[in-house]
Amino acid sequence: MPGHRRVPEGVDPTKPNAARVYDYLLGGKDNYEVDRVVAQRMLATAPDNRTLAWFSRQFLIRGVELALDAGVRQFLDLGAGIPTSPAVHEVAHKHDPAIRVVSVDYDPVVFAHSNAMLSGVAGVHPMLADVRDLDLVDRLRGENLVDFDQPVAILLVGVLHYIMADEAPAEMLARFRDAMAPGSFLAFTQGSDDSDRGFMDQARRDTTGTTAQFCFRSAAETTALLDGFDILPPGVVTIQDWLGGELPPTLLRILAGIVRKP
Ligand SMILES: C[S@@+](CC[C@H](N)C(=O)[O-])C[C@H]1O[C@@H](n2cnc3c(N)ncnc32)[C@H](O)[C@@H]1O
Repeated sequence: MPGHRRVPEGVDPTKPNAARVYDYLLGGKDNYEVDRVVAQRMLATAPDNRTLAWFSRQFLIRGVELALDAGVRQFLDLGAGIPTSPAVHEVAHKHDPAIRVVSVDYDPVVFAHSNAMLSGVAGVHPMLADVRDLDLVDRLRGENLVDFDQPVAILLVGVLHYIMADEAPAEMLARFRDAMAPGSFLAFTQGSDDSDRGFMDQARRDTTGTTAQFCFRSAAETTALLDGFDILPPGVVTIQDWLGGELPPTLLRILAGIVRKP
């Protein structure tokens, strides 16, 4: 994955890793002491981050179900993270065991875990790749991993805010949009610039220059990245508003939305 700034290094149990920290927040077991220390520091500042991680997971699963109900039979999980139950393929395979799920992540730690945990699961393909690579679509097509002539559901959950303004997020999304067949879906989340000011300041101080660097965006800025898609109701809103019900607000506000290729 040449050419990009802020790319994760190899597997090192002595250094905290963002994907393993996230795994810990979701209650997973694929993390080390060094990751748990970082997660606990984060939770000391924003205890609701663990709740938010679960809201995010619920949104991801709702996105999968929406696409399944619309007849989509292939999924592309971009920035998939360490496999967590219920995983995309677990939900999808309940509907149809023949569904294909491609799990892309640029972190060798995630790739190693995915290979270990998913080897032998039919229809699931872990891939080590950077979503910022504008030739990723060609690679997916060339390796026959995604049939872009058929509707596909792309999941970009917990990832867009790691792509900076000068890293061409609109071009990246346009590449996928142009390749996707009509009736395809994209489900995404994005850290909101309307989050708690103290939380955002600390996040910027702690992560600038690292792979966990955050680019907070407004709903309008996020919507502007989605040119050419139809935005499904309820629009680009907080995850809590998207999920509905009486869910509590969180210091970090995450926007969520699902769009459809017309
Ligand atoms: C917060 S986790 C989200 C995991 C999963 N999508 C979920 O919602 O549970 C973010 C993941 O995105 C991956 N990621 C961040 N930037 C990426 C990039 N440019 N290319 C590929 N993966 C990326 C990280 O390695 C990490 O595993």
